[in-house]
Amino acid sequence: MSSFVSVTRDNSVAVVAIDNPPVNALSFHVRQPLFEALTALRDDASVTAIVLACAGRTFVAGADITEFGKPVQQPELRAIVALLETIAKPTVAAIHGTALGGGLELALGCHFRVADQAARLGLPEVKLGLLPGGGGTVRLPRLVGAAKALGMIVSGTPISAGEAKAAGLVDAVFEEELLAASIRFANEMVADGGPFPPVRDRNERLAETDLSAFDAKAAELARKARGLEAPLACAQAVRNAITLPFDEALAAERQLFLKLVAGDQSRAQRHLFFAEREAAKIQGKDVTRRKIARVGIIGAGTMGGGIAMAFANGGFPVTWLETGEEALQRGLAMIEKNYAVSVGRGSLTEEARQQRLGLFKGSTDYADLADCDLVIEAVFEDMAVKKVVFGKLDAVARPGAILATNTSYLDVDEIAASTSRPQDVLGMHFFSPANVMKLLEIVRADRTAPDALATVAELARRIGKVPVVVGVCHGFVGNRMLSARGTENEALLLEGATPGQVDKAFTDFGWPMGPFQMGDLAGLDIGWRNRKARGQTAVIADTLCGQGRFGQKTGRGWYRYESGSREPAPDPEVEELIRAKAAELGIARSEIGADEIIERTLYPLVNEGAKILEEGIAARASDIDVVWTNGYGFPIGKGGPMFWAGLEGAPKIVDRLEHWHRLTGRVIFQPAPMLRRFAETGSWEGAGG
Ligand code: 3HC
Ligand code: NAI
Repeated sequence: MSSFVSVTRDNSVAVVAIDNPPVNALSFHVRQPLFEALTALRDDASVTAIVLACAGRTFVAGADITEFGKPVQQPELRAIVALLETIAKPTVAAIHGTALGGGLELALGCHFRVADQAARLGLPEVKLGLLPGGGGTVRLPRLVGAAKALGMIVSGTPISAGEAKAAGLVDAVFEEELLAASIRFANEMVADGGPFPPVRDRNERLAETDLSAFDAKAAELARKARGLEAPLACAQAVRNAITLPFDEALAAERQLFLKLVAGDQSRAQRHLFFAEREAAKIQGKDVTRRKIARVGIIGAGTMGGGIAMAFANGGFPVTWLETGEEALQRGLAMIEKNYAVSVGRGSLTEEARQQRLGLFKGSTDYADLADCDLVIEAVFEDMAVKKVVFGKLDAVARPGAILATNTSYLDVDEIAASTSRPQDVLGMHFFSPANVMKLLEIVRADRTAPDALATVAELARRIGKVPVVVGVCHGFVGNRMLSARGTENEALLLEGATPGQVDKAFTDFGWPMGPFQMGDLAGLDIGWRNRKARGQTAVIADTLCGQGRFGQKTGRGWYRYESGSREPAPDPEVEELIRAKAAELGIARSEIGADEIIERTLYPLVNEGAKILEEGIAARASDIDVVWTNGYGFPIGKGGPMFWAGLEGAPKIVDRLEHWHRLTGRVIFQPAPMLRRFAETGSWEGAGG
C-alpha cells in the first residue's frame, strides 16, 4: 500500500482511494500503486465490486502536466484503463469535484460512473494544445454519442453532473454522501448480476452517428481553430472512433497525442497554464488577507458597468456611485439589458438574473461608500477628476478599505498621494468588456501594502479573473506594449501596405484581428483624443477622424461597414488617402511582405516587453505572456510574446531590430539589453541576472 493509493473494504466491496493533493493528478507515484492495487483486487475472489474514489477536494483532475515532455514512466494511464477493462466484477468511479482529462479517462475504464451533484466532468486537454491521450476520444463517444463527444472534446469545457447523467456519461447522481451511496450502488450492481460490458464494447450509440452531419460540424470547428492544431486532431480522433475498429482508433489517438505533446503549440499552452497560476501568486504567502464583503464602484460608464457585473456575477453586493441620478439609471439600465440578453440566450436563469440585480445599490452620495471594503474608481481618464474622487473617498471610506483606480494610463503613485492612506491604494486595470475579459492588471504603487495587493489578487480569482501584478508606468504592461506594437502602423501604410494587408498578416499569425480592424472596433476617436491631449499626431488616422470616420460606430473608419454590418470591407477612399499622404510626404510606396509587417510590429512588442522586465514593471517574462494572451488576443498557440520570442529565435529578432534601427533611427527598434542577454542565454530568467 502507498500513501498515494489506499484500499479499504466495506464487506465485499473494495474502495480504492487516490490521495495526491492538491488535485489528485495521475503522477507516476499514483499510477504505479494504483495499477498494483487494481491487479490484486481483480484477482481477489473475496472482492465482489470495486469503487474508485478520491480524497480531498476533487476526483482526479488529469494526467500530471509536469510530466509531459519527460520520458514516460510505466505503467501509463492507458495501461491502467486497459487493466480496468479486464475486470469482470462491477467497477464504479465515484466522482466529486472535477473528473478532468486523464481523470475522466480513468473513470471511462470503469463499468459505471456515479457523481455528487456539484461534480463536473470534461476532457480539457485541448486547452493544453493536446487531445485526450488515455482513450477518451474513443470511449466518450461510445457513451454520449459522437456529436456530443465532439463538442466536449473540441471545446474542452466540462459539463455538470446533471448534464452528464442526461447524456449517458454518468449512471447516477447522488444527493447523499457520495462514498456510501457509491458502495450501495456497487452492491446493487452485484445483486443485478450483469452482464457488465466495458465501455469499449458499447457500440450502440456510435452506430447512430450521422457521419455527414458530424463532418459538417467538424469542418465548422476547423474554421474556428485559427491555426491551432489540437482542435483539428481532436475532431479527427473522434471521427476515427466512429469509422475505425476500437483498437485501431485507440492507436491512432496515441499517435496524434504524441505528435501534439512534442509540438510547440502544446508547449506554449502548457507554459501559459503554469504562467497564469504563477502570476496569481503574490510574494509573502503569510500575509493576512483583508476581508472583502461589499464592493463600491464609482462611475457607471462602460467600464464601471462591466466591473459592477463582474462582482455581482461573483456574488458580491455592489454600491454603485454616480454624479447624478440620470447617469446612475443609465448604468443600471445597461446592466438590466445585458442580463436580459443572457437570459434570452439561455446562459442565465431568470432566478439568477433577479438575484444578481438584487445585489446592486445605486447612490449619488459618497457617504454610502462607508461600509465598502473595496472601492473601485472608473470615472473619466483625467488626473484632476480622479484626484477629486479619491479626496472624497478618503474622507468617507472605512479604515483599511482598499481604494482602487481603473485608470488605463495615469500615474497611480500620484493618485495614491492625493489620499491620506497611500498604503491602501492600488490600480485594478480591467479590460473591456470587464464582465467578459479575464485579464486584470493589478497596479502596485510605490507604497501599496503587501496585504492589499495579496487580497486583490485572491479576490480576482474569486470573480474568475486572471490577475497579473504590474508596476507604475504609462500604460502599465499591456497598453505600453500595445503602443510599441502600433508605432509603425502608419509608416507601413505610407510605405506601401494597405490596412487589409497588415490585418491579414496578423490574422495569419493567429490573432483574432489585426490592428486596423481592432481600431475600428474600439473607436478611432479614443486614440485621436489621446493624441491631441499629448500633442501627438498620426497623419492618416487624424485625417480619418477629422472626416468623422470613427470606425464601426460611424460605419466608416479604416474600412467601410455596409449598413450596420460588422464585416470590414476595403475602402478605396482610404487607400486613395494613404497614396495622397505618401506623395505629399515624398514617400515612394512599394510592396510590403507579411514578414516585414511582423518584424516591424511584433519585434518591437517583444523589445518593449524586455524593457518592461528590465525596469521591474513586470516580475516575470511569463507574466507578460499572461497579459497578452488574456487581454489582447495574442495567439495562445504561440504562448505570448516573450515565449514566442524563444520560438522565433531571439538572435534573429535582435539582428532585425538592429537593421530597422539603423534604417529608421526609431527608439522602438533599439534592442533592449535584456533582449540581447536573452538572445545569448536563451532564458529570460538568466537574462535577469
Ligand atoms: N497536473 C499537475 N499539476 C496540476 C494539474 C495537473 N493536471 N492540475 C492542477 N495542477 C496544479 C496547479 O499547477 C496548481 O499548482 P500550484 O498550487 O503549485 O500553483 C495546483 O495544482 C492547484 O491548481 P489550481 O490553482 O488550478 O486550482 P483550482 O482549484 O483553481 O482548479 C482544476 C482546479 C480545475 C483542477 C484546475 O487546476 C485545472 O483545470 N487543472 C488542469 C486540468 C487538466 O487540464 N487536465 C487534463 C490534463 S492533460 C491529460 O489529462 C492528458 C491525458 O489525456 C493523457
Ligand atoms: P465612460 O466615459 O464610459 O464612463 C465614465 C463614467 O464616470 C461616466 O458615467 C461619468 O458620469 C462618470 N463620472 C465622471 N466623473 C465622476 C465623478 N466625479 N464621480 C462619479 N462618477 C463620475 O468611461 P470608461 O470608458 O468607462 O472609462 C473609465 C475609466 O476606465 C477611465 O479611467 C479609463 O481610462 C479606464 N478604462 C477604460 C477602458 C475602456 O476600454 N473603455 C479599459 C480599461 C480602463
